[in-house]
Amino acid sequence: MSRVTLNQVCKQYGKNKPRVVKHFNLEIEDKEFVVFVGPSGCGKSTVLRMIAGLEDISEGEIYIGDVLVNELPPKDRDIAMVFQNYALYPNMSVYENIAFGLRLRKMPKHEIDIAVKRAARVLEIEAYLDRKPMQLSGGQRQRVALGRAIVRNPQLFLMDEPLSNLDAKLRAQMRSELIRLHKQLGVTTIYVTHDQTEAMTMATRVVVMKDGVIQQVDTPEEIYNNPANTFVAGFIGSPPMNFMDGILEEHGGRLEFRTNGFALEIPRRIAKAPAVDRLAGRSVTLGIRPEHVGVDDARDAGQGAVIRGSVIYSELMGADRFVHLDVRTPAPIVARTAPGRMLPAESPMSIVIDMQKALFFNPENGERLD
Ligand SMILES: Nc1ncnc2c1ncn2[C@@H]1O[C@H](COP(=O)(O)OP(=O)(O)OP(=O)(O)O)[C@@H](O)[C@H]1O
Ligand SMILES: [Mg+2]
Repeated sequence: MSRVTLNQVCKQYGKNKPRVVKHFNLEIEDKEFVVFVGPSGCGKSTVLRMIAGLEDISEGEIYIGDVLVNELPPKDRDIAMVFQNYALYPNMSVYENIAFGLRLRKMPKHEIDIAVKRAARVLEIEAYLDRKPMQLSGGQRQRVALGRAIVRNPQLFLMDEPLSNLDAKLRAQMRSELIRLHKQLGVTTIYVTHDQTEAMTMATRVVVMKDGVIQQVDTPEEIYNNPANTFVAGFIGSPPMNFMDGILEEHGGRLEFRTNGFALEIPRRIAKAPAVDRLAGRSVTLGIRPEHVGVDDARDAGQGAVIRGSVIYSELMGADRFVHLDVRTPAPIVARTAPGRMLPAESPMSIVIDMQKALFFNPENGERLD
């Protein structure tokens, strides 16, 4: 069993220093692939290093399985770590680097050989087994470091941005390799990244962090569709969710979001209408993702919540075109459209907001309201 439990874990680097990890509570089940994601400096590596035993725990408890590991040295925790700055032994060949940990544990030579070759095949580094790390590219070295972790067959993998030195294509390839590997080996994995694509594609659950505090723990789908606050909503998704401040008002039985110069009606038939109803009369931040904003250059874009605005610029991103629109709110709003549309700057537009997909947040603290 390799469940991992963090109980009120705090970290401060030195007495009288601020806490960089604050009351971290998390239960990771056996065989999960949990991804910690958040901006630089939010404490992801610190938490991982405390689980690994490379960093003291200032307050709280960490369990691996049923064992309290607070005082347990790293070598006794049965974990394998892969870092961004993988330290390979420069004088050993790739083969010896991967085999090293197994030799230490006195594994029979032919078993080591099988394990090393299998890992090398998975990671496509079979052709480099005789080379020294110096003779490899950064990406190849990173795969050797992964190989070294895989062959150890630990009860827990801890990975800190292991793919960040790879080019985009190799990173995508390694992402699917790691997913496959996890399915195959079933080893509980904690993976740190600031790359939301990695978080969304690899995780069974995502832990979104900010300033040493957990913001939300959930499946990628829930994190995307039901963000707990404006931080999560804005951090996950590219381009980010659009936000507008305004007031929810009731007018003759119609519920509307009103802001500077326009009003958007909230359809009554939607499932969460009662929850939104309760917010009538208060200030809110409306959040809407670019894929739920449409543009139409016809004078009237039919029924629904339509705003007048104009194109600031549009950018082609292969299969999508993102249109930045001026609707006289403080920040422009972004719509995701088909790539073929020609949308010159300053073109007047009717902008259609799918209000069924709108989310509402507290403008003071960013908490989700609906
Ligand atoms: N050894 C240390 N001594 C003092 N402060 C540290 C130490 N290591 C990290 N910190 C501070 O702790 C905070 C969290 O750092 P951490 O490395 O955990 O962030 P991170 O989320 O991994 O960031 P990144 O995405 O940039 O790797 C930061 O403010 C950092 O400056
Ligand atoms: Mg880090």
